[in-house]
Amino acid sequence: MESKLITYAYLETTNYCNLDCSFCNRKNVIGELQHMPLHKWEKLLEGIKHHPIKEAKLMGMGEPFLHPDFDHVCRMFKEVFPKCKVIVATNCQFDISRRTKLRSILEDSLKYIDMLYFSIDGYKENYERDRAPAKWSKLIQFLKDFKMINRYDCDVVVNYVVNAYNVEDIEKIDKLRKENKLGMLRLNIAQIWDEDIKMEDDIRTYGYTTKQLDYLKHNWGENIMGKSGWDFEDCFWVKNGLYVTVEGYVKMCCMNTEAIPFGNLFENSIDDVRLTDEYQKVKNGCSTNNPTKHCKSCSYKELVPMLSYLEIQ
Ligand SMILES: C[S@@+](CC[C@H](N)C(=O)[O-])C[C@H]1O[C@@H](n2cnc3c(N)ncnc32)[C@H](O)[C@@H]1O
Ligand code: SF4
Ligand code: SF4
Repeated sequence: MESKLITYAYLETTNYCNLDCSFCNRKNVIGELQHMPLHKWEKLLEGIKHHPIKEAKLMGMGEPFLHPDFDHVCRMFKEVFPKCKVIVATNCQFDISRRTKLRSILEDSLKYIDMLYFSIDGYKENYERDRAPAKWSKLIQFLKDFKMINRYDCDVVVNYVVNAYNVEDIEKIDKLRKENKLGMLRLNIAQIWDEDIKMEDDIRTYGYTTKQLDYLKHNWGENIMGKSGWDFEDCFWVKNGLYVTVEGYVKMCCMNTEAIPFGNLFENSIDDVRLTDEYQKVKNGCSTNNPTKHCKSCSYKELVPMLSYLEIQ
C-alpha cells in the first residue's frame, strides 16, 4: 500500500554549525557534535533503499556543507536514489573563494543537488541579529564568489524565514536575489520545532501587526509556503515521511525535533521502527485527527489561522 512507503526523507549527516540562529532550536536538540562517517551513511542508505523516496532534504540541525565529505554524501545518495529530487539548505556563511576546500565541496555537490536553498532572513542588521554570529559582509562575499561557480542543473533559490521583526526586509532580499540571478524567493513563516513551546508564546512568531499581515497578503502571497486548510489527518510525515538524525535516530518529523526517537537505523530496520507502538500511536493520532502529545504544538496546525488570513491555498 502506497501509504506504507516512504516517499520523503529528511536526513541529517552533520550537526555541526557555525551559527546560532534565533529561530532555530538546534542547541536544544543536538547531542555530541559529529559528522556521519561515510561507511555509516552507506549503511543507512542500504537500509532505506527499498522505499521509493521521491524527495529528500539532506540537512538537519547543522550546516550541511561543514560535513568534510558532503560532496560524497550527495553523490552516494544520488547513486542509490537516482530519480529523487535532492534539496539542501545552506547558511552561506563560509569562505568559497578560489582554491578553498569548501568551494570545491560545494562545486562537486552541485552535480547531485536539484535544489539548493540559500537561507537569508532579513537585511543587514536584522540578518546579523537573527543569524548571529553571521556577518552580512560574509554573505555578500559568498554571493559574489558563487557567481563564478558552475551550478550544473541545480535550482538555487532563497529561503527566507519570516518573523515579526523582518517582514519589512523581504523586498530588499528579493532585490538581492535578482541581482545574484537566484531562483524563487520562498517565504517560510517562522515555526517552533519544539513540543513544549507554542507559537503564540513567542512574539517573533505571533507578534505580527495587522498592517504586516496585510502587507504579506497583498505582496507576497505567492511566495509564502504552507497550506491554510491543513489538519492533522493531512500530515504526510506519519504516512510517507522519514526524519533521521546524525546518530541514526528516527524521529517523526521536523516539526518536533525534540521528540524521543522511535528507534535507530544503525540498530533497527526502518520497517520495524515504523511498526513500534509509539510510532503507530502518533501516526494513528494524526490519521484520526486526534493528535497525541507528540503533535500538540505542531506549527503546521498553529500556522493555520495565519495562513488562512493570508489566503494561502
Ligand atoms: C535547520 S536549517 C539547516 C540548514 C542550514 N544550517 C541553514 O540554515 O540553511 C534548514 C532550514 O530550516 C530553516 N529554519 C530553521 N529554523 C526554522 C524555524 N524555526 N522555522 C522555519 N524555518 C526554519 C532554516 O532557515 C533553513 O532554511
Ligand atoms: S538555522 Fe541552520 S545555520 Fe541557523 S543555527 Fe540552525 S542549523 Fe545552524
Ligand atoms: S508534529 Fe505531528 S502533526 Fe505535526 S508534522 Fe509532526 S507528526 Fe505531523
